[in-house]
Amino acid sequence: MCGIVGAVAERNVVQILLEGLKRLEYRGYDSSGVALINGNVLNVIRRTGKVKELSDAIDHQSDSGIALGTTGIAHTRWATHGGVTEANAHPHVSEQRFAVVHNGIIENHKALRDSLSASGYHFASDTDTETIAHTVAQLRKSSASLLEAVLKAVPTFHGAYGTVIIDKEDASTMVVARSGSPLVIGLGIGENFIASDQMALLPVTRRFIFLEEGDVAEITRTSIVIIDATGTQVERPIVESNVEHDAGDKAGYRHYMLKEIYEQPAVIRNTLQGRVSPEGIADDVFGEGSDAIFAKTQHIKIIACGTSYHAGMTAKYWLEAYAGVSCDVEIASEFRYRKSVVKPNSLLVTISQSGETADTLAALKLAKECGYMSSLAICNVDGSSLVRESSLSFMTKAGAEIGVASTKAFTTQLAGFLMLVLAIGKHHNMPAQLEQHILQALVELPNKLDETLTLANEIDELAEEFSDKEHSLFLGRGDQYPIAMEGALKLKEISYIHAEAYASGELKHGPLALIDADMPVIVVAPNNELLEKLKSNVEEVRARGGIMYVFADKDAHFESDETMRVVNVPHCMESIAPIVYTLPLQLLSYYVALIKGTDVDQPRNLAKSVTVE
Ligand code: G6P
Repeated sequence: MCGIVGAVAERNVVQILLEGLKRLEYRGYDSSGVALINGNVLNVIRRTGKVKELSDAIDHQSDSGIALGTTGIAHTRWATHGGVTEANAHPHVSEQRFAVVHNGIIENHKALRDSLSASGYHFASDTDTETIAHTVAQLRKSSASLLEAVLKAVPTFHGAYGTVIIDKEDASTMVVARSGSPLVIGLGIGENFIASDQMALLPVTRRFIFLEEGDVAEITRTSIVIIDATGTQVERPIVESNVEHDAGDKAGYRHYMLKEIYEQPAVIRNTLQGRVSPEGIADDVFGEGSDAIFAKTQHIKIIACGTSYHAGMTAKYWLEAYAGVSCDVEIASEFRYRKSVVKPNSLLVTISQSGETADTLAALKLAKECGYMSSLAICNVDGSSLVRESSLSFMTKAGAEIGVASTKAFTTQLAGFLMLVLAIGKHHNMPAQLEQHILQALVELPNKLDETLTLANEIDELAEEFSDKEHSLFLGRGDQYPIAMEGALKLKEISYIHAEAYASGELKHGPLALIDADMPVIVVAPNNELLEKLKSNVEEVRARGGIMYVFADKDAHFESDETMRVVNVPHCMESIAPIVYTLPLQLLSYYVALIKGTDVDQPRNLAKSVTVE
C-alpha cells in the first residue's frame, strides 16, 4: 500500500528517495512521485505506473536541476480517494511552497475541502491528502514554524494517517505526524530520514526511532524533536535494526513468489531452531512470562486478516483438538466494529506478516480496552507496530516476504501455531504421546516440505488445464478446510480466476449447483479420519460431471481417470498435513498465473501491507 520516504541531507537525496520507493514497491501501488527543494525552488515530479516511470522521467530531466535537492519527500500511492492519475499522485502542493505525502485516510476531507475552498484554496486533485497541504499552508501564516503549524493542523484531521510535510522556505526541516499509520525516523550521520517502513531506509541506516501514535516530529540534518499526543516533548528509544533485506535479489528465480515458495523448508527450519527439539518446546518461547500466562489461559481469541486469518482458522482446529483449549477466530475488520463478550482468562492472539495491518492493529487496541488477560502477536517483522503494542510476541523467521501473495509467511505462522499448541498444551494436560507426535512431526517438517516441492513439474503441467477457466472450487475438511480457503485465495489473488472454498460437508448446501465441466474442483485429501467422508463428497461431484484435481496421500487410494487427476503428496504425520498440503496449492496458483500472464509478484489492485482500513 502507500509508501513514504523522506530525507534531509547535505547531498542530493533524489537517488536515496528513488531507492527507498523501489524497496517499498512490493507493498503494492499505482503511481509515485517526488518533491525536492533545490535552493528556493520546489520541484515535483509524479507519474502513474511503476517507480521505473518516475525514475526514467527524473533521468530525462537530470540536466535541468529539477532532480536536485538536499531535502525531499517521495511516495508510492495506492488509490483510495480519486482515480489513478498523475494529478492524484503525491506529493501534493499548496501555495507552490509546501509539499505533502500521506499514507492513510483523512476521513473529514470533504468538510475540510469545503472550508479551505471557501478560504480561496484551489484543489488540483481529488485526494483527501491535498487538504493536509492547504490546512498546513493556511495555519503556517499564524505560526512561528512549520512544526507549530502542523501541531495546530493535526487536531483538525480525523482518520488514520502518517504524513510528511516540507516547506521550500525552510529546506532544513521536515515535519512528520503519525496517527494510525506507521512512520519510522532513520538516523544518519549529518543527515536524517523518514519512511513508512524501515525497509526503505536500510541502504542508508540501521538506526531507527519508531514514532508512537499521536507523535509529531521535526527532523533536521542534525536534530530530532518529538512532541507526543499530549503536547509534551519526548525522547523515543533508538533501535538498531537487524532486519535482513533481500528485496533486490530473486536468487535466479523468475518471481519473488516462486523464490519464497522454495524458501519454505529453510525458513521453517529457522523458525523452529532453538525453540523446539525432540525433547520438547523451550520455556517462554512466546516471550518472557508467556508460560505463566499460558498456565492461566482458558480461552484463546485469534484475530487477523487475509492469509494470516487462514493461519488462525487452522490453529483453532489444532488448539481445540490437541491442546484442549477453546478458541475462536475472527477477521480483524469485523471484530473492531462489533460489541463482543470476553470469556474469563482469555488470551488475545493477533497474527500478521507485516505487523502493520490497520484493522489488526485497531482490533488489538480495542481488545486491550475490553479485558483480555494478555496479548500475543505472531508476526514476521520485528519492531513492527503489532509487536511493539502486544504484551507477548513470537517472531516467525520467514525473512522479508516480497510477493504480495503470502506464502512462506503463512507456513511459518502455522509452524508457530503448532509450537503454541505445545506451549499451551503443556499446561493443560496434553497427553505425552500426543506431544511426542507433534514434536516429531515438527522435526520432520522441513524435509517433508523439500519432498513436496518435487511435485512442481507435475503441477506445472496440470496448470495448463486451467488456462481457459474462469471459476473454481476448493474443497477440504477439518483442518484442511482453511487450507482449501488459502488455496482459493492464492488462485484468485494472482491468476484472477474466481475461486471459492467450501468445507466439503457444505457441498450439498449450495455449491453442487455450480458443478459442470468448466468449474474445476480442487480437493485436498490427506489420509486422515475424515477421508471416507471426503470420498463421498468427491463422488457427489463426479456424479454431476465435475472435473477434479485431487491432492492426496498415496494411501488414500485415489486413482486418476477421465474426470479426476490425482497428485500424490508425500505421506506425512497428521498434525503437519495442513502445512504440507499448502505447498502444492501455492505452486498450482503460481503456474496458473504464469499461463494467464499476470503480474505474479504485484497483482492488480492488491497491496502487501494494508495500512488503511
Ligand atoms: C494483504 C496481503 C496479504 C496478507 C493480508 C494481511 O491483503 O496482500 O498477503 O495476508 O494483507 O496482512 P498481514 O501483514 O497482517 O499478515
